[in-house]
Amino acid sequence: LEALRKGSFGAFYAYLGTVDSTQEVLKNWALDGAEEGSVVLAERQLKGRGRRGRAWASEPGRSLTFSVLLRPALPLSALPLLPLAAGLALRDASGVGGLKWPNDLLSPDGRKLAGVLLEAQVSGEEVAWVLLGIGLNVHKGALPEGAAALEEFLEVSRVRVLARLLECLEARYAQLADPEALLRDYRTYSYTLGRRVRVTTTRGVLEGQATEIAPDGALVVQSADTTHHIGAGDVELIGFL
Ligand code: BTN
Repeated sequence: LEALRKGSFGAFYAYLGTVDSTQEVLKNWALDGAEEGSVVLAERQLKGRGRRGRAWASEPGRSLTFSVLLRPALPLSALPLLPLAAGLALRDASGVGGLKWPNDLLSPDGRKLAGVLLEAQVSGEEVAWVLLGIGLNVHKGALPEGAAALEEFLEVSRVRVLARLLECLEARYAQLADPEALLRDYRTYSYTLGRRVRVTTTRGVLEGQATEIAPDGALVVQSADTTHHIGAGDVELIGFL
């Protein structure tokens, strides 16, 4: 990684064997004052965490599972764009597929290549730190149903993908200073816009047409009589695959 890495993300990193979750390890680093861009990478996770309380399964040797520490000098209000920036970085680095809102990287046939988990520590109106966790399937193996691996689409090496991904994450993170440009690029790679979607939020399930990504990063869904502005939720792309 040292030989391939550019920029400051990953300047300090640990490559560990088995951990419960890289998010947990990195959280302890954050509490100990670790610098922004510090990376914890693990070969195997016993309690890998996914979004919305789900588990994240990954195979040793075949995937990239890591977490990056961010200490954003951003107000709380800018935080919702961070997941989109992370998703976009995944698309930049891999060069394949598109994004399911907010930040899943899907293969061209709609299977999941990668996911992002963001856990933030907030004090008042300030963000103290963010644990940006990424799980990316690189090599084929016993993938969960609906999952895909990058090597089905291009020739890849894990360390090269990692180096490139860290570089892209750093660049898109910096682009939070220019939200319009970030959103313009995000929309370009969206597999969600223009499709019928089924969205599960804490308030229930709704179906409609995904029409827009709002300036605050929310997904706008038009159902028969209502326009929904969705800040957080789980999206299913209807009729894709
Ligand atoms: C998702 O549900 O799509 C997000 C998956 C995020 C998984 C990664 S793997 C590295 C980091 N550590 C974890 O426990 N989860 C994230």
